[in-house]
Amino acid sequence: MTSPIGCAVIGYGPQHNFGWAHSAWIDATPDLRLVGVCDIDPARTAAAKEAFPGIRTYNDVAEVWADPEIDLVSIVTPHFTHRPLTVAAFEAGKHVVVEKAMCLNVAEATDMIEAGKRAGKMLSVHHNRRHDGNYRLIQQILRSGAIGEVFHVELSALWYGKPNLAWYTEKAKSGGAFYYWGPHAVDWVLGLIPQPIATVDGYFHKLVWHEMTNEDQTTAVLRFEGGAVAEISFSYIDCLGRPSWRILGTKGGILDTGAGGAAGYEKMVRGPSGGSLTLVTIGPDGRKEEQVPYLESDWDQYWQDIADHLLRGGPVPVPGEMGRRVIGVLETAERSSASRHTEQMLYE
Ligand SMILES: NC(=O)c1ccc[n+]([C@@H]2O[C@H](COP(=O)([O-])OP(=O)(O)OC[C@H]3O[C@@H](n4cnc5c(N)ncnc54)[C@H](O)[C@@H]3O)[C@@H](O)[C@H]2O)c1
Repeated sequence: MTSPIGCAVIGYGPQHNFGWAHSAWIDATPDLRLVGVCDIDPARTAAAKEAFPGIRTYNDVAEVWADPEIDLVSIVTPHFTHRPLTVAAFEAGKHVVVEKAMCLNVAEATDMIEAGKRAGKMLSVHHNRRHDGNYRLIQQILRSGAIGEVFHVELSALWYGKPNLAWYTEKAKSGGAFYYWGPHAVDWVLGLIPQPIATVDGYFHKLVWHEMTNEDQTTAVLRFEGGAVAEISFSYIDCLGRPSWRILGTKGGILDTGAGGAAGYEKMVRGPSGGSLTLVTIGPDGRKEEQVPYLESDWDQYWQDIADHLLRGGPVPVPGEMGRRVIGVLETAERSSASRHTEQMLYE
């Protein structure tokens, strides 16, 4: 394969402008070339053509599969379409980047991974939020040993209000409430605690917003083999709120309210993150508390890593197996909520 690699974005939706974001990231990566954008809605391909005048547009994925100039597709469509579109792309001989949530369950993830192996093509899940400036800073602090061994993490996205997000709130299409922000949160936690997951407990509630089929609140508690615990909560019915991140280590802790975080991430290829987090360390002189500004968010690095893999044999950023582990946590949490028992992590 030679540079630049021909790419098509599939799905140019209006809800988060994320087809635009993928197109802009590809356009900004010298080793990649945005050949075209596909959406079943002609109004959306017209919007893509306006933003990127030199591209081809397609309203049927069969045209993408048949285009010999396209080696890589980026799938930015609703969650229930990820498995069929990914498998079809592999059958057409394309490499695949697929948005989070990778798919609806572990069985679908396995289908996607196996289809990629059969085709001898790359499968990567777009867990771009690991490039957020606050998360990069948290990783840096943990690696430095400043807060010692991490034993407890709480991650929350909580508010009170009826969601109005079309297919996102239809469980059969979205996977459920946990599949919106949950994949980011689970991916973050798994990146911080390098231990096998022993068990998962899930607590799902359906109490207030009966107009939608998604749950109102979902919590997963992960117990790692080494003893660390992570609690991840997402809610449309929490009127109290909580900081986005609480991380406890044996020598300190991190508190991040999330304010000033990844704002505008769908409008920028890279950028300063604006916020800061609270770092507490316990040293010989006692407790020290400081505000540390977030690092820059380098979302474009993901795309350079994709090109480095395809052109120069570098590692696949977020291979399908990593995406499946994330989906495994979500599915195991749901099983636990239904069984009302602690469940062994699926396929760990
Ligand atoms: N990584 C992130 O930070 C992030 C942010 C926003 C959205 N997302 C993800 O991006 C994906 C899309 O979300 P969205 O908010 O853009 O949704 P959206 O509803 O705004 O857009 C989806 C688009 O896909 C098109 N589409 C549906 N089926 C298609 C098909 N078979 N072929 C071609 N086009 C098709 C629709 O017409 C629509 O324009 C989801 O997986 C979502 O979770 C990720």
